[in-house]
Amino acid sequence: MIGNTRLSKSTPIVVAGGGGFIGGHLVADLLRQGYTSIRSVDIKPLDEWYQVHRGVKNIAGEEKGDLKNLDNCRRALKGCKGGYVFQLAADMGGMGFIENNKALCMLSVLTNTHMILAAKDEGIDRFFYSSSACVYNADKQTNADVTALKEADAYPAMPEDGYGWEKLFSERMCRHFREDYGLKARVARFHNVYGPFGTWEGGREKAPAAICRKVIAAKQSGKHQIEIWGDGEQTRSFMYISDCLRGIQTLTNSDFIEPINLGSSELVSINQLVSIAENIAGIRLDRSYKLDAPKGVRGRNSDNTLIRKVFAWEPDTRLRDGMQKTYEWIEQEWLAKYGSGKTVSAPKPARSKTASKGKPKPSTNGKHKKPASKGRAKVKAR
Ligand code: GDD
Repeated sequence: MIGNTRLSKSTPIVVAGGGGFIGGHLVADLLRQGYTSIRSVDIKPLDEWYQVHRGVKNIAGEEKGDLKNLDNCRRALKGCKGGYVFQLAADMGGMGFIENNKALCMLSVLTNTHMILAAKDEGIDRFFYSSSACVYNADKQTNADVTALKEADAYPAMPEDGYGWEKLFSERMCRHFREDYGLKARVARFHNVYGPFGTWEGGREKAPAAICRKVIAAKQSGKHQIEIWGDGEQTRSFMYISDCLRGIQTLTNSDFIEPINLGSSELVSINQLVSIAENIAGIRLDRSYKLDAPKGVRGRNSDNTLIRKVFAWEPDTRLRDGMQKTYEWIEQEWLAKYGSGKTVSAPKPARSKTASKGKPKPSTNGKHKKPASKGRAKVKAR
């Protein structure tokens, strides 16, 4: 792994949420590095995974892959003493999802509680927990012209309702398992991760993928209009998936024990994000603004002082470059699913499990034979 070449390639590694966007990329990256004992676990049936990799033990579906269930956590980690766990499993999505599914988001506490308990009991060496910028105090995020969030800004606590409270609680659990039981837990606060092989429609998609999709749909239909949630002046930073993977592994291998920001510090307004997608597409669109849509905080950016100090690195993929790759992938998916020249109606915000029920059609070795649905594609990488 990055930053730790001494780690044996046969170290047992469990990626919880391996059927998801980040988990799927992480498994691919671990395989590329030559790790030979990887388990990938996800509640989704295999045909709904974003990426499926050979050479890995894939545990899929509700019966064995539902990590809200303690027995499943114990089974997933059995025999992995001294190994690594990457806890990426969660019921989540962009603002359209988390604002409408607060109870469901809070139920991830079962997954986090049972995974960390099983990790402690199994004698896992390193436990990575994926927290979120949603833990930060809402009062610090009321202006589009933001002061970037530093790690201390999580307290006094007033996180995002539902989703953010659960993340903050689970961060604390990592801390106390470390203090009381010596579990080497590592916590990163992700800032809006994007890239290929993520959700691009169906209600769980985040702004980068949603904007790419809307621009592609406008281009294909010839109807050069776009609807943007909010007034477009809200601000964010977006982290490309490759930076996320590097950060996860660097932190997990390190001795740094406090929660740390893992995000880009390239701040843009949503209007600027739309302009980037328009530039990639080579078109200009008439913009309309849906002011009553889910908006989240007014402004958010990652203060990277700490990560630069600790790791002499920070996520640095330019948004324009990451968006180019993301746009191209979504365009392929869109064309595979809808063909060219079609008009597609905007999806409604997702509620409950409906957004996770999409059934992507299989494809192999990165070449999509059939159209994907619900913003998921499957690739057998190995
Ligand atoms: N999703 C989406 N779709 N957002 C849109 C759209 C659209 O079509 N148009 C404009 N936006 C605006 C949203 O209203 C919001 O103000 C902003 O783009 C960013 O939306 P998201 O990308 O959905 O979410 P977020 O940045 O508020 O929060 C996400 O990132 C957090 C970490 O930083 C969520 O995914 C959280 O779950 C995550 O913790």
